[in-house]
Amino acid sequence: MNILLIGAGGREHTLAWKLTQSQLCNHLFIAPGNAGTALCGTNLHIAVSDFDELGKACLQNEVDMIFVGPEEPLVKGIYDHFKGDKELEHIHVIGPSKSASQLEGSKAYAKDFMKRHNIPTAAYAEFTSDKYLEGVDYIKKQTLPVVLKADGLAAGKGVLICQNHLEAVSEFDLMLLQSKFGEAGKKVVIEEFLKGIELSVFVLTDGENYVLLPEAKDYKRVGEADAGLNTGGMGAVSPLPFVDAAFMKKVKERIIEPTITGLKKDKQVYKGIIFLGLMNDNGEPKVIEYNCRLGDPETEVVIPRIKNDLVELLLATAEQRLNEVKIEFDQRAVATVVAVSGGYPGDYEKGKIIRGLQDSTLEDSIIFHSGTKKVGDDIVTNGGRVLAVTSYGADIPEAVELSNYIMEQLDFEGMYFRSDIGYEFSNR
Ligand code: AMP
Ligand code: GLY
Repeated sequence: MNILLIGAGGREHTLAWKLTQSQLCNHLFIAPGNAGTALCGTNLHIAVSDFDELGKACLQNEVDMIFVGPEEPLVKGIYDHFKGDKELEHIHVIGPSKSASQLEGSKAYAKDFMKRHNIPTAAYAEFTSDKYLEGVDYIKKQTLPVVLKADGLAAGKGVLICQNHLEAVSEFDLMLLQSKFGEAGKKVVIEEFLKGIELSVFVLTDGENYVLLPEAKDYKRVGEADAGLNTGGMGAVSPLPFVDAAFMKKVKERIIEPTITGLKKDKQVYKGIIFLGLMNDNGEPKVIEYNCRLGDPETEVVIPRIKNDLVELLLATAEQRLNEVKIEFDQRAVATVVAVSGGYPGDYEKGKIIRGLQDSTLEDSIIFHSGTKKVGDDIVTNGGRVLAVTSYGADIPEAVELSNYIMEQLDFEGMYFRSDIGYEFSNR
């Protein structure tokens, strides 16, 4: 079959790498893709939410299945666009409907969903500007720190963890009354701060059945030892030594199964990935957030640990027969380390020539591209996150060490990476 993959990051290069290993994949198209995805298939110069152009490209290239990488097209309704068009409805779209994507698109929707379906999460209340004074009162009654969240998509910047009430009220004011996050902050969720260790759990569901994908932990802070500003993600590891069968049993029974049943009860159409951002507080799981897609850079460790044919998995999802699938994981540890442009997550320059990239497959490592572009014979930087080097190892430290070693062979002006990914699992 012909497949269209939507997106342009390290997540999409990893998916492209895996999809093209399948006998079932005839031709892979990526919109818009990067210099790495171009090694796996044909990049199409179409923006991720230009549904009309994506539809035309699907007809022209006889595409049978679409896999949606980022959240934006899902929240804007790519699923509904294809299913609502007679010419396009036969194309499988792996990803939830517009309405179901609200699990990621609206924090208030997600909190209400969890409340109604009895899924463990932080206590909360939501406020719009007409309830501003009530919100201020509510904030003042909360123990510290207190968490403020813009309701809508805010490019990962809409969550504020405030250490005192004054700061919280001032941020609440900026969001609700001064449009700090525009439309996304017209509604604000105020919630309890959860303690514990964060992890990401990924589920592939066909709306009825599900398979659990490998869990992962990502490293969001730009600096070593988790210092400095938040980024899209500087690295990730899988599996997690602190996740055992007893914890995953609780995650399944208290979170995953009620989520899938809840979606069904709410008549939501969901064939795709559910990404659970969880807190593990002394063995008790709580949901921090839902996302309706795979994470980046988590994908760069999750997908390389899946032994199954990914196209077969996606086809079983589309045809609602995931109950027939047995998922198998590579038991080795996998780590990814991300190289970023100097200055990221602040301002940075693009167009720097990347040296040291090899076309040949490395033993036990894979170089995935994020923000890269081909210009003439050169591959140049084209974003904040530029490359993700994934490696396998007997344990996390070994996998990280190998990725760091490969990183040392790569170079572009201003390149930076964290050499301490997985530091808390270091046993050396
Ligand atoms: P989100 O955009 O919901 O992923 O939030 C960004 C980050 O803020 C999360 O990855 C957590 O590290 C943190 N966070 C969000 N909500 C909470 C909470 N209720 N308690 C503690 N940390 C939180
Ligand atoms: N790495 C977190 C995310 O993709 O949202």
